[in-house]
Amino acid sequence: MAILPLEEINNVRMHADIVEVISSYIPLMHKGKNYFGVCPFHEDHSPSMSVSAEKQIYKCFSCGAAGNVITFVQNYENVSFLEAVDILAKRYGITLSNAINIKQNDKNTRYYDMMDLAQKFFQNNLKTELGIQAREYLQQRGLDKNAIAEFGIGLTLTDRQMLYRLLKSKKYTEKEMDDVALVNTHDSPYDYFVNRIMFPLHDPNGHIVGFSGRVYYESEAAKYVNTRETIIFKKGQILFNYHRAKPFIRNEKAVILVEGYMDAIRLYINGVKNILAIMGTSLTKDQIVLLKKLNAKVVLCLDNDSAGQKAIYDIGQLLKKDNFEIEVIKLSGAKDPDEYILKNGIEAFQKNLKEPLKYFDFSLNYLKQNKNLEQAVDLVNYINDVLLDIAFEQDPLLIDVTLKKLATDYNLEYDMLKEKLQNITANKNNAEKTEFKVESEIALKKQVKNNTYQVACKKLLFYMINEAKYIRIYQDNLVFLDNLNFREIAKAIIYYYESNKTISMADFLTYASTNERFYPEVLDIINEGSEEQLDENVFMDYLNSIQKGNKQKTIKELKQSLKEELDKNKKIEIAMQIAELKKGSV
Ligand code: CTP
Ligand code: MN
Repeated sequence: MAILPLEEINNVRMHADIVEVISSYIPLMHKGKNYFGVCPFHEDHSPSMSVSAEKQIYKCFSCGAAGNVITFVQNYENVSFLEAVDILAKRYGITLSNAINIKQNDKNTRYYDMMDLAQKFFQNNLKTELGIQAREYLQQRGLDKNAIAEFGIGLTLTDRQMLYRLLKSKKYTEKEMDDVALVNTHDSPYDYFVNRIMFPLHDPNGHIVGFSGRVYYESEAAKYVNTRETIIFKKGQILFNYHRAKPFIRNEKAVILVEGYMDAIRLYINGVKNILAIMGTSLTKDQIVLLKKLNAKVVLCLDNDSAGQKAIYDIGQLLKKDNFEIEVIKLSGAKDPDEYILKNGIEAFQKNLKEPLKYFDFSLNYLKQNKNLEQAVDLVNYINDVLLDIAFEQDPLLIDVTLKKLATDYNLEYDMLKEKLQNITANKNNAEKTEFKVESEIALKKQVKNNTYQVACKKLLFYMINEAKYIRIYQDNLVFLDNLNFREIAKAIIYYYESNKTISMADFLTYASTNERFYPEVLDIINEGSEEQLDENVFMDYLNSIQKGNKQKTIKELKQSLKEELDKNKKIEIAMQIAELKKGSV
């Protein structure tokens, strides 16, 4: 933190209105004093994040995320604290005194550097004489020099120690090479990838964190081999092309999802840049969180085989729970988008893109698959599946139209369908309510366990973070907090106040965020802090119950030593102390 003075950070924090900034990332609804949105920091389905314009903080009731405008940008953009300050400063036209040094020294820097070096090395291999066959392969697949350069595509050769020697000469240790799975170092060291075309894989911030190697000649081996899971690479936590596509997705307010690297590359180099590949046929929770951050509608364009169609249905079901707007495009006459575009041109694809299917209509059709609707059993199953689907829809008109269509198409009673749907909806709502009840009961139990003393300490600190008056009362009353963490926080609050002559929750958060030891506790305090106006009488109640708690603890300790004390006079002394304490004069 030393590279930027706190006043400068606070100045940025003050200019960057939290409602304005957060609503540029996620939609916020105004309700009463606060704003609410779907929390981007956990798998959230209902708006559990509240944003206070008055206090300039946000907090999530569900996952406990909390902070000020800077920590929001930090967590949302996955950048360091200072980078977040930098982003906001730029946005609000504020010049920082030390803008150059802001790129923080990430603990993974050496790993990223190693991956960059490997990528450049692979890319160079492709240009050598030994790369002829691979170059021909890429050319024949319609990837020209520009595409190869843009996606950083490279090649590994057959010598199993080439990369090892290079990394060694650059003073990387064998452990480091193994950590990122570039080199296996169990027996004699050998490169993880050999004789494959190499696609670099980036994390959402654009760091190369892994590779995928494709065979480019007749072979029995797996078509693609990906880097195994490492400290920096988790396949389920990235989406291919995310860092390149992000600005285009935000711009278009739409993201197209395809299965493979080649599909994504084909579309991107043809100017459809809001494109991500899920790298297979499933979508993980982490990937959904990444998608949510884009605040865009999702267009599913997967392979034309049955696995691809099933994936569309399954992924749609997942995304629906998160209230994504979902569309589907179906490309006929080709196995995947890559082949489709090579065959029919990008204009044909664009045309499909303009006439997407709503996911709802896709699933009505999809559910018919492999069913013979002439047969009662299949028909009943189909109708049930469709009703289950409709139960999730919000639009009453769509629901009614669908029910009417089902009734006419299959010669069924509309009222009967409607009743069945109402039953499903009621069951579903009950299930959700129960879920909610269980959750809130757990929360309640936790609170009771959290004894009153602790709660009082937290509330006390909450008041102090909010208003200087309470810091002074705290100091005047010589309150002792029987918990090291709380004491440290109180000390930090006082220190902050004395050096800045003012205190606000939003700015204190900035200061506290540099202290890993108690920052989580500070977030907790803010999260549990009351929503109501601060009230001095209530504060005094907290203060008194802390004092009372301290006294009881002292009495307990004295009683213990009374038991253990052998000297008669000393015993009397202790007994008197206890009596004093019980009377109330400390
Ligand atoms: N995939 C993988 N490992 C495999 C097979 C597939 O990680 N062994 C992932 C890759 O991200 C791949 C995607 O699943 O791009 C889709 O697989 P597939 O359709 O087989 O690959 P394509 O992208 O069509 O590849 P190509 O056109 O090169 O055959
Ligand atoms: Mn494919």
